[in-house]
Amino acid sequence: MLTTNKMFYIIKKDLSSLEDLLYETVESPVELITDIGRHLISSGGKRIRPALYILATKSSDNVDKNYSMPLAMAIEMIHTASLVHDDVLDNAATRRGSATANAKWGNNIAVLTGDYLFAKAFAAIAKNDYGPRISELLASIVCDLSEGEILQNHFGYSIPEDFDVYYDRIAKKTANFIAVSCELGAIVAKQPEENIKALREYGYCIGMAFQIVDDILDLTSSSKKIGKPAGNDILQGVITLPVIYAYKHSSNAEELKNIIENRQMTHEDLTRAIDIVKQSDGIEFAKTKVTEFLNRAHAIIPNDIPESVHKSFDAIADFIGKRDY
Ligand code: IPE
Ligand code: IPE
Ligand code: MG
Ligand code: MG
Repeated sequence: MLTTNKMFYIIKKDLSSLEDLLYETVESPVELITDIGRHLISSGGKRIRPALYILATKSSDNVDKNYSMPLAMAIEMIHTASLVHDDVLDNAATRRGSATANAKWGNNIAVLTGDYLFAKAFAAIAKNDYGPRISELLASIVCDLSEGEILQNHFGYSIPEDFDVYYDRIAKKTANFIAVSCELGAIVAKQPEENIKALREYGYCIGMAFQIVDDILDLTSSSKKIGKPAGNDILQGVITLPVIYAYKHSSNAEELKNIIENRQMTHEDLTRAIDIVKQSDGIEFAKTKVTEFLNRAHAIIPNDIPESVHKSFDAIADFIGKRDY
């Protein structure tokens, strides 16, 4: 798990109390909900969003954990709920190396559990001591997530003409969430507005890089390594950066388009589509974009925050460039 990594040594204790809070939150009088919640929490996950939030709260040293930690829990709970829904949309059978809620309990129960977890997150957010700005920001990420996923689903199986369509979607479904996680930590730490803005921008840049890497791994890695089905994006009609690049540059662009637009693609079709993408330099192109976003992220970390926090933000950006799970 990422959170056992050395770069998180300054927030190690907080990450361990986060686990307790997550387990407490999924307790329900309905035993089935508690079982599903425990299954989701115990299967792990990188905890990167709450980790970034907690790290940003360390920009100053007078933050009361009784108020700040429930927000860390809410952030991870919103993320978990969105994954439960995403796995229903993507027909995914595995997540974090374990069975998905939809595979284990069916789509209906999974959708309703996702709703339950969102509500639990917002119950904790309602008790925050930092004013309505916090609730507005967290509500805005759920709106963005939903917009991103709806657009992706509605326009599935068709290759966008423009890279910006892809960037807009991944901003909505991933980068804005990571941006807000950093921004919230800076607000809670009562940082000056320019630092709040800078940490938001840092989060946005690493978030864009994070999703591009996720999309590369879907094409290049194995299901075992990433703990979720590899090659599933094309199969489910989710068109990512390397695929758009291939469509623009490959001499086999028409063949690629035909495979993608045929929703009944066979395993051989999928392998062929992935080969066309790989032969087109689409993966290398996507990697250059990851590097650009990460360079922007490194450059924008404020200089007047504690050195240990600054170093951890640098280390997380480096990790995102190198991650293979
Ligand atoms: C998965 O997020 C969804 C994406 C935005 C790619 P993570 O990769 O953070 O998932 P977990 O929490 O570590 O499983
Ligand atoms: C991210 O997109 C999903 C959410 C932000 C909810 P993906 O569909 O690529 O995420 P994975 O690959 O299933 O984790
Ligand atoms: Mg998915
Ligand atoms: Mg993915």
